[in-house]
Amino acid sequence: MKLTVVGGGSTYTPELVDGFARLRDTLPVEELVLVDPAAERLELVGGLARRILARQGHPGRVVTTGDLDRAVEGADAVLLQLRVGGQAARNEDETWPLECGCVGQETTGAGGLAKALRTVPVVLDIAERVRRANPHAWIIDFTNPVGIVTRALLQAGHRAVGLCNVAIGFQRRFAGLLGVSPSDVHLDHVGLNHLTWETGVRLGGPEGENVLPKLLAEHGETIADSLRLPRPVLDRLGVVPSYYLRYFYAHDEVVRELRTKPSRAAEVAEMERELLRMYADPGLDEKPELLARRGGAYYSEAAVDLAAALLGGGGSTYQVVNTYNRGTLPFLPDDAVVEVQAAVGAQGAAPLPVAEVDPLYAGLMANVTAYEDLALEAALRGGRERVFRALLAHPLVAQYEYADALTDRLLAHNREHLAWA
Ligand code: G6P
Ligand code: MN
Repeated sequence: MKLTVVGGGSTYTPELVDGFARLRDTLPVEELVLVDPAAERLELVGGLARRILARQGHPGRVVTTGDLDRAVEGADAVLLQLRVGGQAARNEDETWPLECGCVGQETTGAGGLAKALRTVPVVLDIAERVRRANPHAWIIDFTNPVGIVTRALLQAGHRAVGLCNVAIGFQRRFAGLLGVSPSDVHLDHVGLNHLTWETGVRLGGPEGENVLPKLLAEHGETIADSLRLPRPVLDRLGVVPSYYLRYFYAHDEVVRELRTKPSRAAEVAEMERELLRMYADPGLDEKPELLARRGGAYYSEAAVDLAAALLGGGGSTYQVVNTYNRGTLPFLPDDAVVEVQAAVGAQGAAPLPVAEVDPLYAGLMANVTAYEDLALEAALRGGRERVFRALLAHPLVAQYEYADALTDRLLAHNREHLAWA
């Protein structure tokens, strides 16, 4: 089996390789290709990847290259984990929206739109080349904003599934609190990427007992603290929102906070320098602890499980993925991309039925779906007015003065990445 990782020079890659090494029975990778334009970085990451496999006696071969077409030739699955413009562009996404009193974040709000505009054309070009090389290859997209990027891929007819680690993170945390194994925890996970709620926590599978009320009664404080929301708010909701909902439920508070501290991009850039120094050490042959401080923890597990299920080699049947709605959430269009539990196998992902959604959450999902629709329009067709329309539709922007000011800033900061601007 041949797997290709686009953005293979990412400091996240050892996390992924560690997953391949540990789960080699589920996913027998013979060739792992890491492709990245940053040659120096790729060599450091590739070296560590080889040492991780060797340490675990894994027979797989690691190939590093800057040549995308060669990299995807004959690949069974291609993972996309790239960041157009790197942490420097992310730093801007996290900074200029604050000048207008809006959250500065790489996937939510105006910063997320900027990232979508930069990313969609690049990802579509890569996907086209994957399809030319092997029309049966699966594309696993971890590239943000995952909802919009996955929708772009599906609309263009690609065999793609979108992935995020928020659900697997909750699964692990809840399992720890409940004292059970993660595989025994099934989440009723509903929403859009980075706009999700856990409405049930079931033991054993989708039909299992819902222990969410018990979990909230016994561990509400811990869960609220980890989300940085007040405990009474969590109790009133009765469900567990992802930490991205804090940008909505505590918007003004978050803006005040973000204005007084360095951006996450700056923090991550510092961590990445440290990680790369560690990767350069020929004595290092496992993923360093420091990686756990990155937001994408457990991404490897989710990605390996997903690849295994899609490539027909087993893996867990139910997984939280991003895929077409197709009636799962009846208040959203069929071609919206939702993030829900799905049965995943060689045919792809089929969402499980979802219980009726409280209007408290359904309203926001519908609003953000409309934004994503307009954001994709802007990414595919360009133009200032399309950018403005997407921002005006975003529930965290909504006023024309803000939408105009944010549009100007977005364009000014992203000209080098937008062919039409
Ligand atoms: C979360 C999200 C990812 C995102 C990451 C950022 O895990 O699910 O979509 O890329 O956080 O992590 P970072 O360490 O770069 O802030
Ligand atoms: Mn994510």
